[in-house]
Amino acid sequence: MCGIVGAVASRNITPILVEGLKRLEYRGYDSCGVAVFDNGGLRRVRSTERVAELEEHIARDHVAGFTGIAHTRWATHGAPVTRNAHPHFSGHGSDGPSIALVHNGIIENHEELRTELQAQGYVFESQTDTEVIAHLVHHLYHGDLLDAVQQTIKRLHGAYAIAVFCRDEPHRIIAARQGSPLVIGRGKNENFLASDALALAGTTDQIVYLEDGDVADLQLGNVWIMDQSGKAVTRTINTVHVHTGAADLGPYRHYMQKEIFEQPRAVGDTLEDVESITPELFGDQAYKVFKQIDRVLILACGTSYYAGLTAKYWIESIAKIPVSVEIASEYRYRDSVPYPSTLVVTISQSGETADTLAALKHARGLGMEQTLTICNVSTSAMVRECKLAFITRAGVEIGVASTKAFTTQLTALFMLTLALAQVHGQLTDAQEIEHVKALRHLPSAISAVLALEPQIMAWSDRFAAKENALFLGRGMHYPIALEGALKLKEISYIHAEAYPAGELKHGPLALVTEQMPVVTIAPNDALLEKLKSNMQEVRARGGELYVFADAGTKIVNSEGVHVIRMPENYGPLSPILHTIPLQLLAYHTACSRGTDVDKPRNLAKSVTVE
Ligand code: M6R
Repeated sequence: MCGIVGAVASRNITPILVEGLKRLEYRGYDSCGVAVFDNGGLRRVRSTERVAELEEHIARDHVAGFTGIAHTRWATHGAPVTRNAHPHFSGHGSDGPSIALVHNGIIENHEELRTELQAQGYVFESQTDTEVIAHLVHHLYHGDLLDAVQQTIKRLHGAYAIAVFCRDEPHRIIAARQGSPLVIGRGKNENFLASDALALAGTTDQIVYLEDGDVADLQLGNVWIMDQSGKAVTRTINTVHVHTGAADLGPYRHYMQKEIFEQPRAVGDTLEDVESITPELFGDQAYKVFKQIDRVLILACGTSYYAGLTAKYWIESIAKIPVSVEIASEYRYRDSVPYPSTLVVTISQSGETADTLAALKHARGLGMEQTLTICNVSTSAMVRECKLAFITRAGVEIGVASTKAFTTQLTALFMLTLALAQVHGQLTDAQEIEHVKALRHLPSAISAVLALEPQIMAWSDRFAAKENALFLGRGMHYPIALEGALKLKEISYIHAEAYPAGELKHGPLALVTEQMPVVTIAPNDALLEKLKSNMQEVRARGGELYVFADAGTKIVNSEGVHVIRMPENYGPLSPILHTIPLQLLAYHTACSRGTDVDKPRNLAKSVTVE
């Protein structure tokens, strides 16, 4: 999704801006651009192609400068065309434009502001909500860019992170944030900013996280920060070592495939320091917090939401604590009944998902102060906002379709289940030892499932010809069916729906014909016989079953029933193992259809707008 990089220095900063954009590329974007102060004027290069093309363009046109801002755009208002790409300019005079601005987020009152500015004579060249901010800054500029930005943001409704500079004050960038992340990077006689510390890796590790309402004034030798009320504030400088590895594809065709095969390592790393279960795995204050809560509320989006749904089955059955799981974008806007003694758990790979952050804020606003995040990025807003945190060790996930982040989230959530059970007197020492043993065996169990890849590839060619698919699961495997359907939708563009198998006869069975592949998760558990009946219902209507069946289920290949045998039954951790073949099925089906697997159409890796 949208990314920002900016720099004020005494050297040419275009390589820093381009490098920063490259580091943010994996999040997804459809256009990019750079603006710098060069030889007394503002220069801009924009492209609807990749950052590499933008870089070539910069080199070809000898674009260089000591102050500049750069952006990757993921279209919300206006098509992904060059004139909508950032930076946006304002104040076109005989010396060229005077204001350059980049923006992440959405300005909700942009139409009203546009009408007002048009009445003042401003001519808009784009369809974006961002251009109104550039013109507003220009309109309110009377010799002090800081003042103009402070006046401007008073008029904005919505979420934003902005960076703006001005021809008349060339050694200065003003930045502001409300609802969208923005960090300052401190250097020696030079300063930087970005929407994520990752963009500044290799340039500086001295990072200041701006808070909502902050405005920052970046100049060569110093950075001044003002809070919402305009008061000067000091924000901590953190030394942040951002992990930037993982860019190498190795023997894999796509990052998604690489990340699927990294799961034994990712889960192993997530479990690395875990010898036994203790609440302190989740933070120093975790024992006290876990002791005083008697409910759990999980907030997340997409794949992370499905991890939360799986955790509900675990926590309710093992720790005996009631759990509700809410889609963050719905929860933040609905009336709900708050319980102060709730543990609010957010789950997020990126830790920057706008809806999940807003839902967390909403829950806190309702008086629920005990917060924990399961997150893959230790420097993210989510980790900073929550009292407790568990950092999964998936490593950087580049493929838009989440894979290793999901299985490491599940691993962490299972440990959370055990820690809650322990504190609430629901876990004996013998049970703890059994569960820890099973957790420790997970990496090799995952490797055994990955070895099924050739069999799954043989199925994927048949799936590639389909336009619809159903996924069935029961109990704690129902969220895994949802995740399997989401994976197939996201990267192969095949319409896929998941149902708890018992729900089939209440409606979706009407869709089942010989044309409909029905992927079925068949663990050897207490619901197996029920599931077999549901499978019969499908076969009786001519539906083709593609079954991932545990050993001992006695489900075998027959007419219209295709079976891949899972190496072992894994008890409560079975959802983690059953996820793997569904990821591989989606991946190979997408490859057969020739889609852009790592960057599927219309999607972004980190969804930082509403
Ligand atoms: O970074 P998050 O875990 O908060 O992201 C949540 C969703 O946007 C994400 O899981 C999305 O659904 C993925 N594309 C799924 O593959």
